[in-house]
Amino acid sequence: MAGRLSVGTYSVLVFLTQRLLWPLTRLGDTLDRYQRAMASTNRVLNLLDTPISIPTGDIRLPISSIKGALQFKNVTFYYDERVPVLRYFSLKIPAGKTTAFVGATGSGKSTLVKLILRFYEVQYGQITLDGIDITQLNLRDLRRAIGLVSQDIFLFHGTVAENIAYGSFDATDEEIVKAAKIAEAHEFIAQLPSGYQTIVGERGQKLSGGQRQRIAIARAVLKNPPILILDEATSAVDNETEAAIQRSLDRITKNRTTIAIAHRLSTIRNADCICVMEEGRVIESGLHEQLIEHNGVYASLWRVQSGIK
Ligand SMILES: Nc1ncnc2c1ncn2[C@@H]1O[C@H](COP(=O)(O)OP(=O)(O)OP(=O)(O)O)[C@@H](O)[C@H]1O
Ligand SMILES: [Mg+2]
Repeated sequence: MAGRLSVGTYSVLVFLTQRLLWPLTRLGDTLDRYQRAMASTNRVLNLLDTPISIPTGDIRLPISSIKGALQFKNVTFYYDERVPVLRYFSLKIPAGKTTAFVGATGSGKSTLVKLILRFYEVQYGQITLDGIDITQLNLRDLRRAIGLVSQDIFLFHGTVAENIAYGSFDATDEEIVKAAKIAEAHEFIAQLPSGYQTIVGERGQKLSGGQRQRIAIARAVLKNPPILILDEATSAVDNETEAAIQRSLDRITKNRTTIAIAHRLSTIRNADCICVMEEGRVIESGLHEQLIEHNGVYASLWRVQSGIK
């Protein structure tokens, strides 16, 4: 306005500010990315630094040689310094048979499973697989031997097929479909927008509870392990689907060590042995008919569920 600046100089000045500003805005973006990368790196490195609290043993156990006999010998276990969940717990789970656990919530059924898989270490006593202490076994071999349908199912952000094949990464598409059929999951998967290639969302949130359970069953079936553990595996599916899954499972669990945990007693009534748990102890065990005959806790549970007075 004072006429002291020539038009040319003025234009250069304006362009200069632009030249300066654009890189500056980019700088903010770069800084943001840098921070994110640092946060992620920290998390990954922290994870890598986490000391392994469950050391692996040395004894290798080829999957083909596993019979699947499990035994708890005087096991005492507590999560933290509170009351023990299991106290001097002893139990034999024979190979090739189905052993069922029932009992009140919090009685320690899932804890048994976690101990077999060595998610936690027992404080006293030992657990053996085919006569070998599981702490001496190679951890990978131990876990490879067991197929688990856990009470809280974890699905990964990926496709249905990837989630079923998790743990059996070299499975072919036909095998995946076959496992899904056994788990009564094929029909609903086929109806999903992209079938087996549908993304299930973070933790499988785009699926219903019963659908997630069936994918988890398919995953365990595909793994074809010597030991199968079903912890409330069909609790979220309707009765008709449950009966269908049960029929397929009856075939699969034949001659395979199976541990079945259920609140709905109808699903486990054909087990070779039913153990009734209460506060970390087995208070009754036997065949369904024997337990009904015995007229104890199981019999009263059965009466409640079947509606017989
Ligand atoms: N991670 C944990 N930390 C501390 N305590 C735990 C943990 N998991 C389970 N517990 C406790 O251990 C006890 C047994 O739990 P567990 O999960 O084995 O019961 P459950 O028989 O499987 O019950 P449900 O039928 O409800 O599944 C409960 O009292 C529970 O509070
Ligand atoms: Mg449980």
